[in-house]
Amino acid sequence: MNDYFIDMHSHILPGVDDGAKDVEEMKKMLQIAYDEGIRCIIATPHHHPHRGRAPVETLKKRAAILRQAAHEIDGRFRIFLGTEIYFGQDVVQKLKEGKILSMNRREYVLVEFPPSQTYQYIRQGLQQLQFAGYEVILAHVERYHCIVEEPELAEELHDMGVNLQVNAGSITGDSGRKIKKFIEGLMDQDLVFCVGTDAHDTKKRPPKMKKAAKHVEKKYGEDYTRRIFYSNAKEMLKKRC
Ligand SMILES: [Fe+2]
Repeated sequence: MNDYFIDMHSHILPGVDDGAKDVEEMKKMLQIAYDEGIRCIIATPHHHPHRGRAPVETLKKRAAILRQAAHEIDGRFRIFLGTEIYFGQDVVQKLKEGKILSMNRREYVLVEFPPSQTYQYIRQGLQQLQFAGYEVILAHVERYHCIVEEPELAEELHDMGVNLQVNAGSITGDSGRKIKKFIEGLMDQDLVFCVGTDAHDTKKRPPKMKKAAKHVEKKYGEDYTRRIFYSNAKEMLKKRC
């Protein structure tokens, strides 16, 4: 397959959360991403009580800096803006008011919960967003203990219409063998919507995708790989009607 990926989960915006700390680090991450075959990034800074909650205007200004740097690498390297939303009772209201950004201003939202949260709370939170009219993507599904312990719950969420995202590193074992197996189980059942890097820096959590894509391609083939590393995420990049 041609190495062309969309990274829809990245903390590459400089100085707004626990991701890239400045423009210099952002540029290094950008180059790594490009060298990995990523040609489109949806920057998803945290909206989180402790990790970052920068105002929308700041995020837009930083995204413009990121876009400019991407164009300096390649005129076709595209940048969009979204948010990784830490779920709370106020997020629907904030989305409606434009105080939290959805993915590329479309109906998709990327949502996370604390890893040890109960399944009931996670499901209810996701449903709350669905009832409000959003297309929900659960960030790094492999991180929630309740779901890893009971993988049928991932199927239940999928059947509810929740889109499940996994981190590229977890596919190849960065989060341990158990998580790697869990993700294989999801892929065997075709429950994965898309893969993101969840990149935060250049060393510990860099924006790498190639190895994970190769791994998936070997086991599940080219078409499947294209779907979860590219086509499904591309839906978010379409222009609004
Ligand atoms: Fe993240």
